[in-house]
Amino acid sequence: MAILDKHKVLEKNATLLLVCSLLVVTVGGIVEIAPLFYLENTIEEVEGVRPYSPLELTGRDIYIREGCYVCHSQMIRPMRDEVERYGHYSLAAESMYDHPFQWGSKRTGPDLARVGGRYSDEWHLDHLRDPQTVVPESVMPKYGFLEDRMVDATYITDLMETHRMVGVPYTDDMLENASADFTAQADPDSDWDALVERYPNAQVRNFDGQPGISEMDAMIAYLQMLGTLVDFSTFTPDASR
Ligand code: HEC
Repeated sequence: MAILDKHKVLEKNATLLLVCSLLVVTVGGIVEIAPLFYLENTIEEVEGVRPYSPLELTGRDIYIREGCYVCHSQMIRPMRDEVERYGHYSLAAESMYDHPFQWGSKRTGPDLARVGGRYSDEWHLDHLRDPQTVVPESVMPKYGFLEDRMVDATYITDLMETHRMVGVPYTDDMLENASADFTAQADPDSDWDALVERYPNAQVRNFDGQPGISEMDAMIAYLQMLGTLVDFSTFTPDASR
């Protein structure tokens, strides 16, 4: 066939093949990438999703520091086995305030995107101290030292300002009250109304059951809110966006 004969020219001339390949890749790339610059937002906004509270954000930082993402993903894929095991598939909006995102690519342990509310704080405490007492065959390391490391609000405003720089909509009000909100969330006797107003659905408890705010408090506060912000009994995906 004539057209195939012409193709032989390409196959026999490496430089020409390279130039034409580049051309094809360029056109393909432009077609895929260019529209993204004209979209106002590639993430469908979902009711309930809010920036992390100061204590949750601290817990998230510790999660990253300890490399929990090396064994845990935070993205439930829309496949039946995943949805039946972990719950509603993850929405893009649920990680829109994650910098860096924690989707992960390795599951030595289970996905944690919806672990919030699945266990009690005491369970998490026992499990983080010594996973094998709860799940004998677990290969997860012990993290009991988190209990002994106290955290304070010294750097929380800086941390939140950094997140604001990359697009998390922390308001001036949130930044001004960061330190107070940080302490209030771990103390059920505090005046936490304003905290919950700023961060709807924030859970206020003494997460590790001990006096003072430890890294354990921050970690459990973070784990217990994962995947709990969107109310899936009322959520309907909007396919038109
Ligand atoms: C070496 C891999 C590894 C690392 C690192 C690791 N985990 Fe795990 N994790 C596991 C495994 C395996 C399981 C399942 C068995 C179990 O429950 O202990 C698990 C289970 C869990 C569970 C229970 C999940 C569920 O749905 O039952 C939580 C919560 C958890 N890990 C949190 C963490 C946190 C927080 C960190 C970091 C401080 C962490 N893990 C680090 C391997 C790991």
